[in-house]
Amino acid sequence: MYEQELAATAQAMVAPGKGILAADESYSTANKRFEKLGIPTTEEMRRAYREMLFTAPGIGDFFSGVILFDETIRQSTKDGTPFTKVLLDAGIIPGIKLDAGAKPLAKAPGETVTEGLDGLRDRIAEYYQMGARFVKWRAVIAIGDGIPSNRCIKTNAHALARYAVLCQEGGLTPIVEPEVLMDGDHTLERSYAVHDEVLKAVFDELYIQGVETDQMILKPSMVIPGKKNPQQASVEDVAQWTVKCLRSRVPAAVPGCAFLSGGQSDELATAHLNAMNTLFKDLPWQLTFSYGRALQQAAMQTWNGQDTNVAAAQKELYHRAQLNSAAALGQYQPEMEKVAA
Ligand code: G3H
Repeated sequence: MYEQELAATAQAMVAPGKGILAADESYSTANKRFEKLGIPTTEEMRRAYREMLFTAPGIGDFFSGVILFDETIRQSTKDGTPFTKVLLDAGIIPGIKLDAGAKPLAKAPGETVTEGLDGLRDRIAEYYQMGARFVKWRAVIAIGDGIPSNRCIKTNAHALARYAVLCQEGGLTPIVEPEVLMDGDHTLERSYAVHDEVLKAVFDELYIQGVETDQMILKPSMVIPGKKNPQQASVEDVAQWTVKCLRSRVPAAVPGCAFLSGGQSDELATAHLNAMNTLFKDLPWQLTFSYGRALQQAAMQTWNGQDTNVAAAQKELYHRAQLNSAAALGQYQPEMEKVAA
């Protein structure tokens, strides 16, 4: 019933030079980031912060969509304009995080399963009414001694697929996000092997559940060694290994892969995306960004909870968005970092 709308939304989300701002931090994640900067952890401060982000002049040139959190989709600017309207007026599609977070997987120390399937059909209907047109569900896969287990991968892939098919039934384009964490000391090769196994399991389950791959977006992590591994990979190696993995596991019908940043520095997240788009010109899908931290860090620090810093913080967000848009086109140069925000 919604096939054309779902596919059109997916195409728009990864239109050339456009990417997605992930601003869907839960209460606890948003509060942790505020606490580090000494910003009060109140609902009003979270609202004011999101107002700063969404009203930044010109961001519609670079963002196709913004992922919201449940609290945020119900909020408005100080003068009473709903955030969904602010985004639509800027040419940006509102999206919403649907999962209820990663919870400990039973009898599996160190592993999680993402919950939130109960009552999902009703929540999808409500968010559609509120103006959301795409959704996100994040599965988390950790690498460590003896993990990930096959059970963890299969369980998360199954949940992702059940979420995605329910969303397509209800008219919301799903972002399918299997994140392989960068925490640990694993090698680039191990990261590749886990990504390969995870993506295989995810697309197998999507097929079993009847998910249409032309009506979804994949949000993968990049193939990167663990943060604690002294042998870090070059930008070019990360690009090569990541694209090799996607090529062998992601169907050509998928309109795009919009990466998460996963704790990379702002510059590296941009450089990796740019390298993929520079080295590979013949890929069946668009490669773009759906970053949270790597888009927001500088803006949040500059804002620091002060009204007087809003304009400067918005310039930081614009600058990062512009650089990532350039990376999505393979046109980013490190010298562009130095241009004042
Ligand atoms: O689910 C994760 C977020 O949507 C992306 O956040 O870029 O900070 O990893 P990140």
